[in-house]
Amino acid sequence: MKAVVLVKQGPADKAFEIQEMDKPAIKPHEVLVQVDAFGLNFADVMARLGYYEDCPPLPAIIGYDVVGTIDEVGTEVSHLKKGQRVMALSRFGGYAEFVATDARAAVAIDASISDGIATALATQCGTAYYCAEEMVRLHPGDHVLIQAAAGGVGSALVQMAKHRGCIVYGTASTKKQDFLRSLGVDHPIDYRNTDFEEVIKKQRGGEGLDVIFDSIGGQSVKKGLKLLGHGGRIVLYGAASMTDTNKNIFKMIKVGTGFGLHSPIKFLKNSQSMMGVNMLRIADHRPETLKRSLEGAVKMAQDGILTPHIGGEFKVDQIAEAHEFLASRKSMGKVVVSWK
Ligand SMILES: NC(=O)c1ccc[n+]([C@@H]2O[C@H](COP(=O)([O-])OP(=O)(O)OC[C@H]3O[C@@H](n4cnc5c(N)ncnc54)[C@H](OP(=O)(O)O)[C@@H]3O)[C@@H](O)[C@H]2O)c1
Repeated sequence: MKAVVLVKQGPADKAFEIQEMDKPAIKPHEVLVQVDAFGLNFADVMARLGYYEDCPPLPAIIGYDVVGTIDEVGTEVSHLKKGQRVMALSRFGGYAEFVATDARAAVAIDASISDGIATALATQCGTAYYCAEEMVRLHPGDHVLIQAAAGGVGSALVQMAKHRGCIVYGTASTKKQDFLRSLGVDHPIDYRNTDFEEVIKKQRGGEGLDVIFDSIGGQSVKKGLKLLGHGGRIVLYGAASMTDTNKNIFKMIKVGTGFGLHSPIKFLKNSQSMMGVNMLRIADHRPETLKRSLEGAVKMAQDGILTPHIGGEFKVDQIAEAHEFLASRKSMGKVVVSWK
């Protein structure tokens, strides 16, 4: 099979090589998927730039989400069969023509779901579902801030929060403000040119926010906590701001300390919560929770609650271009790469 191998960290045009290698062997609880297309995730950009500690040692095949056909089924797997079309979350290995993954991370999908949407439903919508449906309960009238709301996970969170009747504050770069409106964001905020803390403070007065979903990390978390109301919950699931540091150790420390030091007593007094999400840990240690989140995302798409937006479609020989596009902050929604 062919695979896109991450051979070195740095600029995308030097980082990847397409190599010939053996198909992966499956374990009894796994399936082998013949991949039609795979999705990019911001974590892949972080892995390429060397900011992602979960990335396997190089050379490595990265990639979390694929769409394709089941080619082989492990002896312990009973709910999937050879020839079925699936979307699947893989624990790396996704940038290849074949990938082995836990059968609980693969969901059968029908032909009406396009390849791009199928890949978005795996990591990005699965993560959004876990954050918005498993970690917190959203209620009508809740004031919810979603950072990077025009991105893959962000746009799914917006749609889920609107479905629950929330009032949504969404941040994104200047050119994405219309897209935020089209998603249903009530208060789009251009956080490249305005201070989101000031904007929300003006709108909410002393009331604060009920829920914050943060994928930026650093100062964004500290500011978010100042906006959180009593009974509020903040979900941390990313640290995109780390990529701005250019590996400068002082800047990296600044992002790290930017998160702030937090006393549990303050959370207790204010009836607030801070929650962390890492879907790899969920995949490794709570595979049934992952299965529920992936199936939940697919069901929401089938019910018309979730309509993932495709931000860019590329062929496999354009992998470098696809990566730079996602890294450039220009993409809105899912970036997908197909083998044919
Ligand atoms: N914890 C988990 O298990 C998990 C799972 C999936 C994803 N994630 C995280 O969720 C976030 C979104 O992932 P995604 O794949 O859906 O990507 P994405 O949101 O489609 O793309 C990243 C977006 O983040 C925004 N951003 C804000 N500050 C940034 C910065 N300093 N540098 C670069 N981009 C910045 C950019 O949009 P604007 O500038 O327009 O806002 C950019 O387009 C990422 O941080 C990712 O690591 C975490």
